[in-house]
Amino acid sequence: MKGKFILIILLASFGFTSCYYDKADLLYPGANAPCTTVTSVSYAQDVVPLLQQYCYSCHSGGSPSGGIAMGTYATDKTIALNGKLYGSINYSSGFSPMPQGSPKFSSCQLATVKLWIDNNTPNN
Ligand code: HEC
Repeated sequence: MKGKFILIILLASFGFTSCYYDKADLLYPGANAPCTTVTSVSYAQDVVPLLQQYCYSCHSGGSPSGGIAMGTYATDKTIALNGKLYGSINYSSGFSPMPQGSPKFSSCQLATVKLWIDNNTPNN
């Protein structure tokens, strides 16, 4: 009798955890899937909102974290061109993973930033 009870609890908790992961997949469908939707990018409309939400809070103002200044076209372009922007958000070896304290960018968010860099960081 006791054994059956434990078995039911075990099955039930497995059921709950699998539901939890299913929901996470539904909530964040693009997080691990390859991104196929980014074909054009605007600095002002696509890149800035991302960096504003995830980076500027620590990396702008008088004493930006790690001495990495962001928040203007000139500063964002500088870290884009020296490789630090993509290195950090892509978790490349040799870079501190960013955004610090938040999950890694989704593949579409990464692709957005990468396309802007590949396009030569236009101020568009
Ligand atoms: C909660 C604060 C915080 C946020 C948010 C944050 N950073 Fe950082 N960042 C830091 C700190 C602190 C350092 C210096 C220590 C280190 O390198 O880990 C740093 C360092 C860096 C560096 C230098 C890393 C290296 O290896 O040279 C880059 C580039 C960088 N951040 C980019 C970003 C970008 C891009 C974002 C947004 C996607 C971001 N950070 C979000 C706090 C933050």
